[in-house]
Amino acid sequence: MQKHIDPAVIKKVEDLRQALHRHNYLYYVMDDPEISDAEYDRMMQALIELEAAYPDLASHDSPTLRVGAPPLEKFETVNHSIPMLSLDNGFSDTDIIEFDRRIKKHLNIDGGIIYTAEPKLDGVAVELVYENGRLTTASTRGDGITGEVITSNVRTIASVPIILSYSKVIAIPSQLEVRGEVFIRKDSFTQLNNERLNQNLQPFANPRNAAAGSLRQLDSRITAKRPLEIFVHGVGIVTDLAMESYGDTLLVLQNLGFRSNPLTRTKITIEQVLNFYRELAETRHQLPYDIDGMVVKVDSFSLQKRLGATSKSPRWAIAYKFRAIQETTRINHIDVQVGRTGAVTPVAHLDPVNIGGAMVSRATLHNEDEIIRKDIRIGDSVLVQRAGDVIPEVVKVMVSKRTGEEQIFNMPTTCPVCNSSVVRTEDEAVLRCVNASCPAQVKERVKHFASKGAFDIDGLGNKLIEQLVDNGLISSYADIFRINRHALENLERMGPKSAENIIEAIATSKQISLSRFLYALGIRHAGEHTSGLIASRLKRLENLFSVTTEELEAIEGVGPVVAHSVANFFQQDRNRKAVDDMTDSGVLILQENGEKHVPFKGKVFVLTGSLESMTRSQAKKAIESAGGKVAASVSRNTDYLVAGASPGSKLARAKALDIEIIDEATLKKIITE
Ligand code: IVH
Repeated sequence: MQKHIDPAVIKKVEDLRQALHRHNYLYYVMDDPEISDAEYDRMMQALIELEAAYPDLASHDSPTLRVGAPPLEKFETVNHSIPMLSLDNGFSDTDIIEFDRRIKKHLNIDGGIIYTAEPKLDGVAVELVYENGRLTTASTRGDGITGEVITSNVRTIASVPIILSYSKVIAIPSQLEVRGEVFIRKDSFTQLNNERLNQNLQPFANPRNAAAGSLRQLDSRITAKRPLEIFVHGVGIVTDLAMESYGDTLLVLQNLGFRSNPLTRTKITIEQVLNFYRELAETRHQLPYDIDGMVVKVDSFSLQKRLGATSKSPRWAIAYKFRAIQETTRINHIDVQVGRTGAVTPVAHLDPVNIGGAMVSRATLHNEDEIIRKDIRIGDSVLVQRAGDVIPEVVKVMVSKRTGEEQIFNMPTTCPVCNSSVVRTEDEAVLRCVNASCPAQVKERVKHFASKGAFDIDGLGNKLIEQLVDNGLISSYADIFRINRHALENLERMGPKSAENIIEAIATSKQISLSRFLYALGIRHAGEHTSGLIASRLKRLENLFSVTTEELEAIEGVGPVVAHSVANFFQQDRNRKAVDDMTDSGVLILQENGEKHVPFKGKVFVLTGSLESMTRSQAKKAIESAGGKVAASVSRNTDYLVAGASPGSKLARAKALDIEIIDEATLKKIITE
């Protein structure tokens, strides 16, 4: 029996539901929120509490269902009213041109066909059924005819509308079937797997598996915690709406509150389709989600209808898949490389093979354990994978191709570069060369030191660094700042002009922020991001010298491993010496202004005389980065006069105006304090 409920409560619940649906739509679909996350959470909490207090007000359309519903015993099944077919595949421009030709032949027309093309997401296909604007059933594709009912799970996906009343379409269709792809972004996937590892759970193999596993939860409260998203890419039965093409349908669906892939190109020719494919192939690794190709669809529904389908797939669409990022080839020999931390990494030298457009002749084998686990031998046929910017790696051995001639590779017991011993510590899978002065380590460290996120020394490239180390010109970081021009000019393939440019680039790089400096040191586990976090907390180099693991761990975003590694680095005498050696050679570590600590804010400086450790332009840069300004002549507005050796008439004028006069050492002190 329904108890009497205060109409004000009923109205409050309805208002909250309306508002939450609308804000959800603005946030997830329009990407244009009107309220803060905290405010959204407060409204959601208020609704949850009201629904708990008044169970009679429960509704299948409530936004509170986004947090999940009580678990099911098993999944029901449902027949799709129109089968969910699969797609034919193409792998080359020729395949796509042939697809276009087939279509024209089938339709018996000569003119160009208009297409829509969109990225092919590597996710899970679902169907969403709306009756009178309310999500009533969501199902998996299943075998294409029958799918599993996963409505409670799909309701938890924030970018799936539960009701369609925010639409800009006047008439809400009485029946609407929308199809789409549920997926997980790459960064959310990494985070999800890290969380699983922390909880001792098996990580998911890839974002697709994670999405599929999350949708097949009997307990939708688990699904609600997974970072699922949807892009819609088709319709089944639709009543009351008259759309003539797929491109137009996507617009109508957007107006109804659905999200489609913003990269979609509608109304394009077959030539534009091929160009779009090339663009996607080049940029796919920068996309926040995995795609495995492109889907090309005839845009016009009347043409789609005339083309029809085979039992397996429609004739009006094709998947233009990316070329494999895995190929098989042979390992000719294996050797090892010594990295900047002394890690001795085995590398397979391969019969060169084209993988997804790039020639690959080497692949990392990671470490000894990996070689043993995958049973990789010299002479083996192997599957090699190249993905994005990562180093190619051997995925597995094609054991059936073994001839018996293959040879087992043993890791060396001494460093192949400097002959020092290599050791494996108990908690690590890697072998390390113990000699910190090993030329291989020095080369790699200097390469890192001079690289973009670090000292960013223009012209000091890998080849030159190798030459400099081999010729004994560099064996420590500080040596970089002591290189003289003549020594450089005497190197092979080095003209006077390039030598001058490099000397200039090295001089310019001497002024560096603490975060870049810290990153440049190549301390194990201290990447660009963590170096930034540490620098903006500790501000000054001196603080690093005395920092403890505990202090570092207290910084948000800095874990125990990094903290220990950084603290330990600065406790070692030879590292402190190396740092002192650099500052003695003119490296000026600027106070970190990540949090915009600017000691010279608004102060006006004038420089006179010659400075010892920096050029005028470097001094200017340093002052400006500390918030000050440099003026050409002394006036009443001048705050400080920096006086170097043999100062000019500016000194007398500054004295007359009672302006504070500082020397170079004081200037440096203030900058770095
Ligand atoms: S349209 C008749 N568009 O690829 C099938 N599918 O290999 C129409 N997929 O089951 C599907 N992105 O799960 C279409 N933009 C997209 C897609 C897409 C991914 C998946 C979908 C389909 C599978 C076919």
